[in-house]
Amino acid sequence: MRASWSSRGLVAACVCVSISALAAATVVIPNLGRFKNPSGEAATFNTAGDINRKNAFFQDLGTNGRTCETCHQPDQGFSITPESVQALYDRTHGADPLFRMVDGANCPDADPHNRDSYSLLLSRGLIRVAITLPLNAQFTVLAAHDPYGCAIRYDPVTNQQIISVYRRPLPSSNLRFLSAVMFDGRETVAPLTDGASFDANLRADLSHQAASAVQGHAQGVMPTPAQLAEIVNFELGLTTAQLRSNDAGNLQSARGNGGPVALALQPYHPGTNDALGHDPSGLPFAPSAMSLYSGWATSNDANQRDIAAGEVVFNTAVATITDVAGLNDNPALNSPPVILGTCTTCHDTPNVGNHSAPLPLDIAVSRQSTIELNPDISSALQQLTPPDLPVYEISGCPDLKHPGHTTVFYTSDPGKALLTGQCADVGRGKGPILRGLAARAPYFHNGAAADLNQLVNFYNLRFRMNLTDKQKHDLIAFLNSL
Ligand code: HEC
Ligand code: HEC
Repeated sequence: MRASWSSRGLVAACVCVSISALAAATVVIPNLGRFKNPSGEAATFNTAGDINRKNAFFQDLGTNGRTCETCHQPDQGFSITPESVQALYDRTHGADPLFRMVDGANCPDADPHNRDSYSLLLSRGLIRVAITLPLNAQFTVLAAHDPYGCAIRYDPVTNQQIISVYRRPLPSSNLRFLSAVMFDGRETVAPLTDGASFDANLRADLSHQAASAVQGHAQGVMPTPAQLAEIVNFELGLTTAQLRSNDAGNLQSARGNGGPVALALQPYHPGTNDALGHDPSGLPFAPSAMSLYSGWATSNDANQRDIAAGEVVFNTAVATITDVAGLNDNPALNSPPVILGTCTTCHDTPNVGNHSAPLPLDIAVSRQSTIELNPDISSALQQLTPPDLPVYEISGCPDLKHPGHTTVFYTSDPGKALLTGQCADVGRGKGPILRGLAARAPYFHNGAAADLNQLVNFYNLRFRMNLTDKQKHDLIAFLNSL
């Protein structure tokens, strides 16, 4: 049988089984099994061979029936897509464990029987993440817009503010390339910056992350060390990428170097090709970080040539980077107001696309187009279709442009600042690994880009890239082939 499997029985042309039927019948997901997505098929290579769903990752380790797979689905790029969430809700009348009040609903005390209570999960695949603000935060937080009534809650014992933000499940695959765990890095309990300690620290981080997930999402107790090791070993064996393009055919071919097997062979060390010049190998930053499809530049197939051209856009099209916290205010770089970069300035890990050093950035995805004063940011945000999220007013931070004054931020996700309480961290988060993108729209941590078209239009205005329609088309074709 051709390896084709869908846990949520969504995709028209594949062998579709419902999750319950699957759990009973299909314990094994064939290695390199293909899953359809709008632009072709993605696949996962597992170093341990076929994926055995008896692994703790697929087991109910908590009290609410959820497993890791509930939010990290192999057929959805190890995230979840709104289409499959909606189908699941309809099929189970909201009874699937995904729809738990704890973080599947917009608010934990919403009406569990009302479909609207899960609108952010259904429309964008967003999970509520509640973070307790440190007492010594440099700023104060108010809810300027509170559409669901639980933007800010208070810890009954410490009276600390508990802030609700809503985020997409980051893929639980391709993890051996991580430099930070979670959007805000909060599970990077041991740093991923040194080659000598990288493997042990990554395991420690992922183990800590898995324990938090069981206790949080699955409302369980601390898993056993054996269960955690089983999950982490499983995760670290996974590599996910697009394998076939509807237009350009097999992405892993004589001259195309896409697909998960080539990615599994891709070398990595922390800081590799660091855009800020700190690669421990001593090599300088090479902006042409992506080289999967250079062999297709002279292909006879026009669609293959487009993908190769899109890769060149990603590597070389000039992005005028301004107003990005983490870069333009970075003292180590002498706080340059303008950086002439490329997509790879921030997505520098070769053929992977995250940042090879932990460098959380605020590219302004969480800001409000109606309030934003920077016209580039405002017009860029208007290319997106953000969900109706709480908006936080953050005040008391120094205004870097007007010394002696303070400034106010409006953001739907204060990012790393919720952990550190530092003004300099407001809005900052990591750029995710960019492989397997086609399987997991919508994009950005809050699902504000419905598709790659919106995402590219955002960047085009955000960083004044002046991309032609042809360049945009090619760039999207390339991103869909990752
Ligand atoms: C209810 C949904 C849900 C469940 C269940 C869940 N996760 Fe997640 N996972 C998320 C969300 C949302 C994020 C991103 C949160 C953030 O960045 O703040 C995430 C992030 C992650 C990441 C970080 C990836 C990265 O790039 O940093 C890993 C690893 C992960 N989850 C593994 C697991 C494991 C292992 C389990 C089971 C023990 C699990 N998850 C269960 C929703 C879920
Ligand atoms: C100044 C740094 C920077 C530049 C330049 C940049 N990005 Fe990003 N990128 C990020 C950050 C940070 C995120 C995460 C933002 C978020 O989710 O809020 C991101 C997210 C993304 C995502 C979403 C991934 C996902 O899983 O949702 C894609 C796709 C992407 N970038 C592609 C590009 C492309 C294409 C370019 C060039 C046109 C580009 N980026 C330029 C920093 C950058």
